[in-house]
Amino acid sequence: MIIQDRDSLAFNDKTFVQGHRILIAYATQSGNAKAIAQRIYAVNQDCCDIYDVASIKIELIQEYERVVFVVSTYGNGEPPLTAETFYAELCQSSLDLHAIKFAVLALGDKQYLKFCGFGNSLSHQLIRLGAIPRVPLTEVNRNDAITIEHWWSKLHETFELNYEINEDWEVATLMDKVEEKGAIKFILYIKPLQFASAKILKIKDSRNASNLIEVNIVSSELDPFTSVIIEDNQTERFGSSFWRQLSASQPGDKWHVQIC
Ligand SMILES: Cc1cc2nc3c(=O)[nH]c(=O)nc-3n(C[C@H](O)[C@H](O)[C@H](O)COP(=O)(O)O)c2cc1C
Repeated sequence: MIIQDRDSLAFNDKTFVQGHRILIAYATQSGNAKAIAQRIYAVNQDCCDIYDVASIKIELIQEYERVVFVVSTYGNGEPPLTAETFYAELCQSSLDLHAIKFAVLALGDKQYLKFCGFGNSLSHQLIRLGAIPRVPLTEVNRNDAITIEHWWSKLHETFELNYEINEDWEVATLMDKVEEKGAIKFILYIKPLQFASAKILKIKDSRNASNLIEVNIVSSELDPFTSVIIEDNQTERFGSSFWRQLSASQPGDKWHVQIC
């Protein structure tokens, strides 16, 4: 194992060619960012190193071409306590990071005024030093699983990092929602496109796995868009709170779906 954090500062034997590996760095206080970083690392051990920013000097960043940050926010948009030294060094630094491409996943909670403030400040500092953001900064409200998964899919596209295998659940984005008499029609964008013989779509609530609904696929002619119509009389069996969430969802919202 080459997981390194405050509790385990042993360095790996670095049998790799420096610069070709990917650095995963996390800043955490209660463990969420660390858990996400470790999940990414777990399926990418052959090409990644993982560190708690509390245990590294900022110069380490220069040894990599690609850096993935998973960081939370505390105080009034501040870094977690354990990341204060790292961040203060970064702010005062004049390192040349032009060769670095990076991605930031910013964890936070919308109930705070400076939502994901530290993730945004970190990203600004990296850009100030010349680093190039290759995946748009992604803000995560209350550890929302779908936002995290979507960001991870971007990491896969951009940095070729592996995904965690997720029981064949896909992320679907709601493109449009049309309320019809006694029913709601959802237009979804789903990737990959496998609708030729698909008849049923399962939709899952990422926060409560027992909230699961099955609906008939109405049309897949508009590939890559798929329409599902949910009629009011179908909704009784869904569980009313999940149905309320679904019916209140807005274009751009993401859902976990499975095509059968
Ligand atoms: C005392 C406290 C202060 C927080 N301040 C902020 C904040 O200013 N902005 C924000 O977006 N989230 C804030 N959060 C939410 C955390 O960033 C969020 O819970 C995150 O998932 C924690 O990740 P961690 O377990 O990796 O530290 C705060 C949480 C606590 C407990």
